[in-house]
Amino acid sequence: MSLSFIVAAAKLGYEGMNPPNPFPIEIPTSRLVLRRPTLEDASGLHEAVTDSFAELSRWMIWARNSYSIDDAKEFCSYANDAFDSGTHLPTLLRLPNDGKIIGSAELTSIDPEVPSFEIGYWIRSDYAGFGYVTEAAHALTTFAFRKLDSNRVQIRMDSNNHRSWAIPERLGYEWEATLESSSRDNLGQLAAFRIYAMFDIQQLLPLKTG
Ligand SMILES: CC(C)(COP(=O)(O)OP(=O)(O)OC[C@H]1O[C@@H](n2cnc3c(N)ncnc32)[C@H](O)[C@@H]1OP(=O)(O)O)[C@@H](O)C(=O)NCCC(=O)NCCS
Repeated sequence: MSLSFIVAAAKLGYEGMNPPNPFPIEIPTSRLVLRRPTLEDASGLHEAVTDSFAELSRWMIWARNSYSIDDAKEFCSYANDAFDSGTHLPTLLRLPNDGKIIGSAELTSIDPEVPSFEIGYWIRSDYAGFGYVTEAAHALTTFAFRKLDSNRVQIRMDSNNHRSWAIPERLGYEWEATLESSSRDNLGQLAAFRIYAMFDIQQLLPLKTG
């Protein structure tokens, strides 16, 4: 902890302050900026989800029925608090030139004592198929191992969600387990979950270029 932080904390009269938040406001990649959501993003987020609703409503529990501007505001507010808690790094995927929101990727702490993390993601439908999510998951995996000393990063998905499990496979994650009949999907059908895990940054494959 830096001296200036301790002095500032003393001036503010805080006792037993938590260590500084380990998360950056943004993580740049070669084609994206992964940025912490704020309430000002609610409208752009709502537009991105609405444009992608057919795809998202199949797989994301929060998009099962509908997605209103209030839902987007609620997510941004929750994401803001989660970021501040230092246990959860929610990000919006933005294009660097105009800031357009094209999806989301997040890193969530599973067990701080391990430490271990989980990555989740979605992409705006008209930006699918260009490797943006693979690029974002690569950046979050790197961040978890290099900056958070992670011993395990996992990605889970419905075993019917082929496009989703292609992402950890592209990055070199191990297909660790399938949990048969472990949930119900958004259609009400019994579903199996695949779990992919990585234990060391050396397993992470380089991104395809071009
Ligand atoms: C799952 C989901 C995120 C996958 O999106 P995606 O666009 O296929 O993933 P990527 O952005 O990594 O793109 C990979 C595709 O881009 C292609 N691609 C093009 N350039 C690429 C590059 N430089 N690097 C990697 N892939 C590239 C890949 O070949 C692949 O195409 P393919 O599916 O035809 O083989 C998306 O389908 C989605 O949002 N679904 C709804 C929500 C969801 O299911 N979320 C996950 C819940 S667990």
